[in-house]
Amino acid sequence: MERWFLVTATAISVLLGAPPDAWAQDVVKIGLVHSMTGGLAPVGKQVMAGVRLYMQQHGDVVAGKKIEIILKDDTTVADMGKRLAQELIVNEKVHILGVGITPTAMAIAPLATEAKMPEVVMVSGTSAVTERSPYIVRTSFTLGQQSAVIAEWVVKNGSKKTVIVQSDWAPGAEATAVFTEAYTRAGGKILDTIKVPLANPDFAPFLQRAKDANPDTLFVFVPAQAGTFAKQFVERGLDKSGIRLIGPGDITDDNDLPGMSDAMIGVVTAGLYSASHNSPMNKVYVEAIKKANNGLRANFISVGGYDGMHLIYEALKKTGGRTDGDGLIAAMKGMAWESPRGPISIDPETRDIIQNIYIRKVENIGGELYNTEIATVEAVKDPTKAAKK
Ligand code: PHB
Repeated sequence: MERWFLVTATAISVLLGAPPDAWAQDVVKIGLVHSMTGGLAPVGKQVMAGVRLYMQQHGDVVAGKKIEIILKDDTTVADMGKRLAQELIVNEKVHILGVGITPTAMAIAPLATEAKMPEVVMVSGTSAVTERSPYIVRTSFTLGQQSAVIAEWVVKNGSKKTVIVQSDWAPGAEATAVFTEAYTRAGGKILDTIKVPLANPDFAPFLQRAKDANPDTLFVFVPAQAGTFAKQFVERGLDKSGIRLIGPGDITDDNDLPGMSDAMIGVVTAGLYSASHNSPMNKVYVEAIKKANNGLRANFISVGGYDGMHLIYEALKKTGGRTDGDGLIAAMKGMAWESPRGPISIDPETRDIIQNIYIRKVENIGGELYNTEIATVEAVKDPTKAAKK
């Protein structure tokens, strides 16, 4: 009896062109490694809000397979993230990885390559991440996309001398490199580049040093610390100094804007997502995130999680539920869809995201601060990769 079953099962799988374990499997396990605690915990909270909302709206069965999420907390430490990913692959036998911050995404890359397993990057903003493994696809953003756009905008709007303040890690170095290149090419001068620690920075001494250099513009990239930064910016009197504050979207993060003072009104940034983005899809999105997360305002990190799940769901539909890494990655390349942020796609050559970058200005709308989109640069590719070509 048992033998008959085996022979029949093998025959059916040969007929269907699938290995025996592939058609027998009815669950697709997605292992997520995000920063739920530690310095970048606000990032983990936002990305998971996006993941959960996508599943709430689209259900947990795709191509006849039940989707199972296993979430692990890297505590904002890359080594921990790598160990947890190893466990997910070896013990939990996940089929797909979904990962967060740059150091963790990079640490996991060799494991994804070895296991031939898709690693969907939902948070990291460092260009080089997608080059670490052919199994990496990104649904977040790059710092370069935003930094190049704001550099050109600010020179066109009269900026000549800038001081850069960047957090001291890979995405910070990238924001600085891309901003510096685009700003100086457009005719501006960088007076100083000040590096601040990623964890618990006291911005006061750095802000004093920036002020003393007498710039007309301050370009700032500090992740998940916009609230603290804005407070110290005002305490040091920089809001009244005539120095213009600019940056990638992080500095007027929708996560922190509701807690900032009106001193931030008028700050212009280049970002990929605004809670006030005017589309029917985004209105539903913002309301649903708020409702499910105790009033949380959706930000640019949350959409990386939401779109990461979309990418996985649609790729599974294309493969008919098959989970081999090469098939899934092929299905993901070139995929295009509407996100709460606007139209996005996966560059088939680089597996990186192509998206609109919006110039936004902080305004008070109905008693709350929002990033109002005032201009759009369409379909922006990662400039760091484009420059290498
Ligand atoms: C990153 O991990 O590259 C990262 C995280 C949070 C940010 C920006 C970049 O706000």
